[in-house]
Amino acid sequence: MIAQSDSGTRILPIVEMRGISKFFGGVAALEDVDFHVNKGEVVALLGDNGAGKSTLIKILAGAVFPSEGSIHVDGQEAEIGSPARAKELGIETVYQDLALCDNVDVPTNIFLGREIRRSVVRGLVSVFDRRRMAEETRRLLTDLKINITDIHAPVRDFSGGQRQTIAIAKSVYSAAKLIIMDEPTAALGVAQQEQVLTLIEGLRNRGEAIVLISHNMDDVMRVADRVVILKTGRVVTNRPVGEVDRDGLIRMIISGIDEALELTAAGSPEART
Ligand SMILES: Nc1ncnc2c1ncn2[C@@H]1O[C@H](COP(=O)(O)OP(=O)(O)OP(=O)(O)O)[C@@H](O)[C@H]1O
Ligand SMILES: [Mg+2]
Repeated sequence: MIAQSDSGTRILPIVEMRGISKFFGGVAALEDVDFHVNKGEVVALLGDNGAGKSTLIKILAGAVFPSEGSIHVDGQEAEIGSPARAKELGIETVYQDLALCDNVDVPTNIFLGREIRRSVVRGLVSVFDRRRMAEETRRLLTDLKINITDIHAPVRDFSGGQRQTIAIAKSVYSAAKLIIMDEPTAALGVAQQEQVLTLIEGLRNRGEAIVLISHNMDDVMRVADRVVILKTGRVVTNRPVGEVDRDGLIRMIISGIDEALELTAAGSPEART
């Protein structure tokens, strides 16, 4: 789908999935799903248990391979055959279990597997440049307005909200085109939820593209630009958050019926054809 910006220029989605189906044995986890995310947009992916949300994002993350359909990244058709390929394409996923290393500090977590090195002994040996990694970490956290002073404490010492913001910062540092977050505020206290939501708003303002899976409709109404609801593997609705309200979202998640379409169908004869 090509959107039109205010100035009339065409906006190419960062990521677009077309006609995606996924069958597990005889079960269709996804059926003919179209899904896209534009730059600077937070798209909430909603649906009841078993709706297909995780399957859809696992396809983007390279953890599940679709049975049918195509994926385009920056307008180019892409095969996402592995998690490593997803990262190469700029797709980062923050899973609920976070995948942080508890017993090491913040810089070590952020730079895991891509450490900054410096040469010593006249260039014969390369060692980790811990000072630069600490500096970069401080700069990143300041940029993202994440308030963590003791970056050298092991991350197990931080609260759930702080850990979630560290995991998100790590994905931002990867220069991700698309950041996918699966239930980032589940199991967090009120103040910690606030921290994560503020971070998501800040990321959107920086022009990042974000997919947010959430069961919390207040979070969705606050930070999402657009909502996509799935029900038993099919898209129920895809519309700007301004066209829906909290209770309507809940009804559509349960019923699997797009209320706005229903209204149009009832109101205009041509809509029925
Ligand atoms: N590896 C698998 N093997 C077989 N069936 C699967 C597999 N993964 C998912 N499914 C099925 O696909 C459907 C969609 O599951 P999915 O995990 O994507 O739902 P979800 O929307 O993420 O749900 P929840 O809110 O509970 O996390 C379900 O019927 C599920 O049982
Ligand atoms: Mg899931």
